[in-house]
Amino acid sequence: GGVTTIDPGYKNTGSCESAITFLNGEEGILRYRGYSIEELAEKADFLEVAYLLIFGELPTKEQLDKFHSDIKDESVVDDDIKKIIDAFPKTAHPMGVLASLTSALTAFNPSSVNTESEEDMYRAIVKILGKFPVLVAWTMRKKKGLPLDYGDRSLGYVENVLKMMFKKPNEEYKQNPVLINALDKLLILHADHEQNCSTSTVRIVGSSHAGLFTSLSAGISALWGPLHGGANQAVLEMLEAIKEDGGDTKKYMGKAKDKEDPFRLMGFGHRVYKNFDPRAKIIKVAADEVLEDLGIEDPILDIAKGLEKEALQDDYFVKRKLYPNVDFYSGIIYRAMDIPTEMFTVMFALGRLPGWIAQWREMRLRKEPIGRPRQVYIGENQRDFKAIDKR
Ligand code: CMC
Repeated sequence: GGVTTIDPGYKNTGSCESAITFLNGEEGILRYRGYSIEELAEKADFLEVAYLLIFGELPTKEQLDKFHSDIKDESVVDDDIKKIIDAFPKTAHPMGVLASLTSALTAFNPSSVNTESEEDMYRAIVKILGKFPVLVAWTMRKKKGLPLDYGDRSLGYVENVLKMMFKKPNEEYKQNPVLINALDKLLILHADHEQNCSTSTVRIVGSSHAGLFTSLSAGISALWGPLHGGANQAVLEMLEAIKEDGGDTKKYMGKAKDKEDPFRLMGFGHRVYKNFDPRAKIIKVAADEVLEDLGIEDPILDIAKGLEKEALQDDYFVKRKLYPNVDFYSGIIYRAMDIPTEMFTVMFALGRLPGWIAQWREMRLRKEPIGRPRQVYIGENQRDFKAIDKR
């Protein structure tokens, strides 16, 4: 028999048991493998958090060194990837490029599809952790017209990402500790968020035993949308539009509350957090630090702060428990770092990568069945076929 009830948007449907991320939306609690996000953002680095999410425990120094070294051994991509990047128009959205390249990696690494044993899984995991930052950096370099160069083996994971993204030809790249720290924090805060839209996508695609890279590519596509990861790009475009329009935040508050108007206050509201988003609190502080260090006075930040203040006092937002989410402030940092607006969601993908991997690995190790929801059919009953000249 079929099902009789549905749950659109799976608002109240659990899809799996998971030991990775704990989230309490009422109290604004987020923990990876039992460790609070506040403590991890303060004390751990991104690669440690990646290891923690994927394998369940904080690594020892030896484990982390081996993990990093295995990743570095895999941080070269096939030269033909450059040809694929070159074939995209310069105007292509980086999220579409990234999803395509991630899927294309399967063609160049066919063995990554076979992940029957934990050792096979490990190989596929270090491969993608090594190659993904190259794809991210090159996607941006293509946009900026920079040569597709590699980073530097001697650097930390995040330092290497920064160098790969920003190094100019014939110029030495100077690392800025404030930027390294801010990016490290941003990536940690984005690293996992239990069964969100892109993660559920990765698990469901992976549940058909499609390969890891293909499953991740599907996750990237899900993340692209403005109601999910694409919100960070949408926030900045919204703030710029408000600035261009004279900075009238009240007018846009009115639009957001008007049910006839499709405009939403981007970066506000969350499916699970109904009190505050703990990630937004940490990011807000990091944004101030970065802007101060770089000596940037960004009118966009004043508009963001103005909107936040008004929304927190507004009946409409208070009644619906709409608070700034992680994406409300991340774009301000990315912009200060000179990352183009269209790349913001790509940075989110770089951060979410370990979470997607951890969730995929958990799903496979637990031998979960193929994901296949049911429906309530509301179409026509049986009808007789009519020949084309009788319709
Ligand atoms: N601006 C104005 N009204 C809003 C907003 C907003 N940003 N978000 C929700 N509402 C209203 C919505 O119209 C509805 O009102 P009513 O009860 O009168 O019909 C009520 O609040 C509940 O909203 P919902 O759309 O039913 O809630 P949801 O859980 O389906 O959606 C959301 C969650 C995040 C998609 C939504 O809040 C939204 O569209 N926010 C803006 C986009 C955004 O910032 N997304 C990033 C999410 S955080 C990063 C990530 O994890 O991807």
